[in-house]
Amino acid sequence: MGRFVVFEGGEGSGKSTQARLLAERWGALLTFEPGATELGARLRKILLDPATTDLDPRAEALLMAADRAHHVATTIRPALLRGRDVVCDRYVGSSLAYQGYARGLGVEEVAELSAFATEGLVPDLVVLLEVSAEESADRMALAGTPDRMESAGDAFHERVREGYRMVAAHNPDRWVLVDGSGGVDEVNARVRALVDSRLP
Ligand code: TYD
Repeated sequence: MGRFVVFEGGEGSGKSTQARLLAERWGALLTFEPGATELGARLRKILLDPATTDLDPRAEALLMAADRAHHVATTIRPALLRGRDVVCDRYVGSSLAYQGYARGLGVEEVAELSAFATEGLVPDLVVLLEVSAEESADRMALAGTPDRMESAGDAFHERVREGYRMVAAHNPDRWVLVDGSGGVDEVNARVRALVDSRLP
């Protein structure tokens, strides 16, 4: 089995950049959720399009889970089984923080749904990049037109941050917190040190 590392964080946390840097360093398969498969790209459209109004939180959680189930079955698990390392930008932790905690569906319930979707595939390590609300807002503003999730409001994104902190605190064996403030190289040095100490 290859190694499986996930990057998590709120909007503008810089996790996509850090995921790419680790994947390049390891020669790992770099992938992301939602939307990395052909089916997933269609689900992603529905999920992130601001024109999708009034999406019930349970429907949102199930669509995220459907994307993940297909992604694990067709991309992540086969790669790991071939001995390939996999780096994924968002995974179950996103559903726990966004749907379970911030949308209020319950972290336990969403964890059960996720376990069903992934057939219990858990990452070896989850790197949670933490940035302040201000830094996150600044970086989001630079990113252009906000998608449906980005438009959910400051209170929602504060709950996402809280949700992540809670999930990380409950899973200290798998989750590591990294200060995401500062420049790319600075953050990368922190990520590198932690990844190397956890997965030598
Ligand atoms: P994306 O553009 O990948 O976000 P980012 O650039 O911040 O990584 O969009 C994914 C959005 O979907 C993001 O707002 C988080 C949200 N999301 C969930 O709410 N639940 C999930 O399970 C996943 C994977 C993503």
